[in-house]
Amino acid sequence: MESNFIYKEGRLYVILMEKTVKKEDFIGRDFVSIDDFSFDEINFVLNHAKHIEDNFQDYKDNLSRKLMAPLFFEGSTRTNTSFQAAMIHMNGRILDFDVSQSSVKKGEILRDTVKVIERYRPDIMVVRHNLDGSAILVADSVKVPVINAGDGKNQHPTQTLLDLYTIKQIRENINGTKIALIGDLKYGRTVHSLALALSGYSDCEIEFISPDSLKMPAYLLEKLKSKIKFSEYGLERLNNLNKEFNIIYMTRVQRERFPEGPEGKEEYDKVCKEYHLKKQMLKEVDSDFKILHPLPKVHEIEPEIDDMPYAYYFDQLGNGLYIRMALLDLLVKK
Ligand code: CP
Repeated sequence: MESNFIYKEGRLYVILMEKTVKKEDFIGRDFVSIDDFSFDEINFVLNHAKHIEDNFQDYKDNLSRKLMAPLFFEGSTRTNTSFQAAMIHMNGRILDFDVSQSSVKKGEILRDTVKVIERYRPDIMVVRHNLDGSAILVADSVKVPVINAGDGKNQHPTQTLLDLYTIKQIRENINGTKIALIGDLKYGRTVHSLALALSGYSDCEIEFISPDSLKMPAYLLEKLKSKIKFSEYGLERLNNLNKEFNIIYMTRVQRERFPEGPEGKEEYDKVCKEYHLKKQMLKEVDSDFKILHPLPKVHEIEPEIDDMPYAYYFDQLGNGLYIRMALLDLLVKK
């Protein structure tokens, strides 16, 4: 809601105005943090993605001859391929950039690499990099819109949009969701941006469940504390999953972000041994209960759970296509 002030007959009036979000509001913008979009804009993107899902063929030429540069400096299956599929489904084109065959291997710095790519006139860049803040650095270095496809342990805002889309698919309404974010909350960027986004909805509650060494960072808890009800638990909480929970959001322990050397390995092995969701832990949950996971998953979910009706992570990843189509359709200048 926006406000305006008028002074009339000696009185000050505050006029609250519903701001209507329009498609045009998104053109040419970057999306590097979940905070880059207002609450209304996030919901606009979710609705746009739903329109695309329901009217898929209507979008088949929306990005005709437009060029996307996917710049993945870190591994990805889902984010990279879903962005590429999104572009192709709208008749767009993709610049082939393979970091393993690039001059990054010769020591070229990120800023130089993206300034080079910019000269080949992409309409949008999608960047994943292992450094926190790399997406904003790229966005500040080039004039084309930049989408953050994951920057270090900081944020993964497009994953958050697809997570919100999935929650809406499961419960119809995101408001009032009781969710547990579980696992590597220290290094897991998906849970950072998801917690921030959920704090914009009303009556949501988050339980942060993690090993002691992988708790949610203090700076994020500080940001959340006036906006959403939350509590923190150790992994023993997994033995008490019950009807209170609508959704649990599991995450992988991010081995690649642990300190190098034997101490990092020892800590990783220790938390992996403790952190395991077993079928028997789900015996008290509600029949509508769902398990989400941004994937990839490694050891944290017992394989039998994949075949239970609670496992929703493969449906969740499919929603990435519609969210990424929506973002590309909205941000690219036609
Ligand atoms: N969820 C996600 O970001 O998966 P990828 O690392 O495979 O892109």
